[in-house]
Amino acid sequence: MKIDGKEYRTIWFENNGVKIIDQTKLPHRFVIKELKTVNDAINAIKVMEVRGAPLIGGTAAYGLALAVQENNDPEFIKKSAKELIQSRPTAINLKWAVDRMIKKLAGINSDQILSIALNEAKKICDEDEKFCENIGINGLKIIEEIYNKKKDTINVLTHCNAGWLATINWGTATSPIYHAHKKGIPIHVWVDETRPRNQGANLTSYELNEEEIPNTIIADNTGGILMQRGEVDMCIVGTDRTLSNGDVCNKIGTYLKALAAYDNNVPFYVALPSSTIDWDIKDSKDIPIEERNSEELSHIEGIDENNQIKKILIYPNKSKAMNLAFDVTPAKYVTGLITERGIIEPSVDGLKKLFK
Ligand code: MRU
Repeated sequence: MKIDGKEYRTIWFENNGVKIIDQTKLPHRFVIKELKTVNDAINAIKVMEVRGAPLIGGTAAYGLALAVQENNDPEFIKKSAKELIQSRPTAINLKWAVDRMIKKLAGINSDQILSIALNEAKKICDEDEKFCENIGINGLKIIEEIYNKKKDTINVLTHCNAGWLATINWGTATSPIYHAHKKGIPIHVWVDETRPRNQGANLTSYELNEEEIPNTIIADNTGGILMQRGEVDMCIVGTDRTLSNGDVCNKIGTYLKALAAYDNNVPFYVALPSSTIDWDIKDSKDIPIEERNSEELSHIEGIDENNQIKKILIYPNKSKAMNLAFDVTPAKYVTGLITERGIIEPSVDGLKKLFK
């Protein structure tokens, strides 16, 4: 997708290094950063220079290729794989990508190992791009259906950033929106700010602006009243891990939005590539929910009048804060899962139909 009119993907390999868009600097600075070592990749995932389940997976895959480039000793590769998997706990794509890389590299100790690792990392990213494009083609059908009845601007509410910046390209939740816009369907997006890290305001609104899609940032608590007023036609969110029973783990606050949608008969869709399905965990209580540093709540960052980035404390000095990063929306509140293979019911049977 575009930034300043120029097409980008979120990650690519160039001159022996992995290039990423440093998302901690957006929306105020557009900085391309180079990752040279597996530790650089681990750090980029931890501090969220890259984030969003599919992009975390792509970065981990390239991270493992960087490990091979540094030292192709099997013990080093094994240790690097373990550290990559531990860099963030909730998005399943991370382990999925590392496991796939390890399987691909198993038993290879020839000169070819680096090119095999780089090819596989690129393949993971290319596939994700294709999956997200197909999610858009499938999700477009839902938007078209609503538009054919309404014949007026479609208002979509989204939470966090499940946009192209969270994937390799297109995004998951945003892909149907981009496809609808390209088709000429008038569309407007309510963008949840998504405290504490403001992925909605800083990333989703930014990328929609760059693609010239009308959008309005709202405080995380505003969605409910907009739904009561009939100003939301549908919600589409992404996910970090979806269970085989259709329960959806996503950015904190998704659950409350799903409850409000349910109460107001607003369709609530979740868009995901199959790499985000966890086929092993059966009970959502077993999903590891990341708890991040409470400073993300107590401090806020922005630019001052001199265009300098500043971080300031906004809470009382003595207050404690708790920063859970994800929650789980039970399948019963989800209207459908938009996947690369089609739209499915969020249930064991629904998932089995398209993913045997
Ligand atoms: O903490 P983040 O920014 O990595 O969380 C991202 C989300 O929760 C996204 O909604 C999810 O990963 C889907 S991205 C296509």
